[in-house]
Amino acid sequence: MTEVPPAAPEPTTREAATTRRGLLSWFLGTSVGALVASIVYPVVRFLSPPEIAEAPTHQVDGGPVNDPELLDEGFKILRFGQEPVILIRVDEGDFRAFSATCTHLDCIVAYRPEKRLIWCYCHNGIYDLAGRNIGGPPPRPLTPYEVHTVPGSGGGPDELVVVET
Ligand code: FES
Repeated sequence: MTEVPPAAPEPTTREAATTRRGLLSWFLGTSVGALVASIVYPVVRFLSPPEIAEAPTHQVDGGPVNDPELLDEGFKILRFGQEPVILIRVDEGDFRAFSATCTHLDCIVAYRPEKRLIWCYCHNGIYDLAGRNIGGPPPRPLTPYEVHTVPGSGGGPDELVVVET
């Protein structure tokens, strides 16, 4: 006659409740942890972004000479590496470029074609078309850039290239 091993004892109601409670606690704990991590991680990444080395820029594409923004507004702002640059269309074939950062308190300047002046709206700073500070609080002239016109590709309009001086 073979002996049957004793069956595992049935968990008591209290043990079963403990197991369910433990599982529920574990589940809630990991959910809360995941929620906190999903909130904290983006904030930390925003506050300390990775260092991205930017390639040095010596020239940027200024677009076609008949760019509607240049024709309508008389100017446009380009990104020259980290620097904003203002590209101005003074007359047909006469383009100029300067640092767009006001030398007073770093506002971005604009061109006023009706007055043929570069203007800083922050404190009414005024520069002439050579970039010289001629009115208001700016203490120094704007840094000039060269503007070259190159033939457009495929028979298109000529293109502007802004070059560091
Ligand atoms: S920031 Fe341009 S005039 Fe003050």
